[in-house]
Amino acid sequence: MEKVVLAFSGGMGTLAALHVLRRRYGRDNVITYTANLGQKSSTEGLCERAMQLGAAYTHIADLRERFVDDFVWPAFRAGAVCDSGYMLAHALARPLIVSELVRVAREEGATMIAHGCAGKSNDQVRFEVSAAALAPELQVLSPLRTQGLLRRDELITYCKKHRLPTKQVRDSRFSITENLYGSSVQWDKAPDAFEPVPEDVFRQTRSLAETPDTPAELLISFKEGIPCALDGDPLGGVELIERLREVAAEHGVGRLSTMEDRLIGIKMVEVYEQPAATILHMALRALERLVLSPELAAFKRVIARRYADLAYEGFWFSELRQALDAFVGNACQFLTGDVRITLLKSTCRVSGVRSRYGLYRQGLAAPTTEGDEFAHQGLQGYMDTISQPLKLRQSGDSRRRAR
Ligand code: ARG
Repeated sequence: MEKVVLAFSGGMGTLAALHVLRRRYGRDNVITYTANLGQKSSTEGLCERAMQLGAAYTHIADLRERFVDDFVWPAFRAGAVCDSGYMLAHALARPLIVSELVRVAREEGATMIAHGCAGKSNDQVRFEVSAAALAPELQVLSPLRTQGLLRRDELITYCKKHRLPTKQVRDSRFSITENLYGSSVQWDKAPDAFEPVPEDVFRQTRSLAETPDTPAELLISFKEGIPCALDGDPLGGVELIERLREVAAEHGVGRLSTMEDRLIGIKMVEVYEQPAATILHMALRALERLVLSPELAAFKRVIARRYADLAYEGFWFSELRQALDAFVGNACQFLTGDVRITLLKSTCRVSGVRSRYGLYRQGLAAPTTEGDEFAHQGLQGYMDTISQPLKLRQSGDSRRRAR
């Protein structure tokens, strides 16, 4: 019998997927893989649960560091943010999980990998596209799709019928998926887009009313576009994000309620909490404004948008993404410096920026004679030259149209 490796988070979809697979392929042939990506709800006990439900083997791994170093930071320094404001926390985790499933499948001699993604999710697309890119020889299964468990109620009925131990069955207005870099809400009913988001949806960040009256001042240091220290303490990525997430959450920073275009062609109300990501993107943007030439900054924004789309659409393992990374690495070579951030009452703003590679010179910007280093004498010729085409258009011949 052939073996299958299932991505197993312990969420309702993955419980049902495990159950379906075990019935189809038998107890000895289903292997589960659980990733710790820094979700606050712990991964403890998940291996035991998978075994009870019929997995032959279970794997669990702490992927936080790889997640940050190999997925979050490359996308971050590219400036990858979706048009909706989504900073891609989940989209960036999928390719990592798939690469792990492929590794385990090869080690265990499995011929299939599987996911428990919902029928309207973007994650199913990312999962299957990533798998195709990494291991075309493996078959990718979507047990929920083949079993007709496409909607939430069908899933709940299935879980109840087979007595699968899921907590979402009881609390059923929404469920939350999170990792180190951000969290997102899945609703049980499509919300009215005109209604404000209920307060209890937010689990990480405080509401405006509960935020402190005194601001928090942060100093974030970057090396070549990657955050490397907080308030002067050099930190690895995981710890830096965790610490930033705490302060940001306390000050109510990082909530986002937005309209998203799903990959399957529908619009969806999405609610995210991305406290650390929100601050970091704002800080990097400030550093870019100081350091980059306007041409490079503008082109980097074009790349950022394309990069975000690629990550969102599941094309992480594509040659285009690799090529964009090469551009981004080069564009970030001078993005080393410090940014001051002030958090207050659900807002964050930049309160200072410095870099030894900055292109800002007080001597050039000086508004008075004292200390002015600007070369005013060249200006007249510059004006004449750049206005030349406009002058020509206004004069005689060049206004007459050909008949
Ligand atoms: N809409 C978001 C995205 O496309 C949220 C994904 C949430 N993932 C999950 N497994 N619940 O990335």
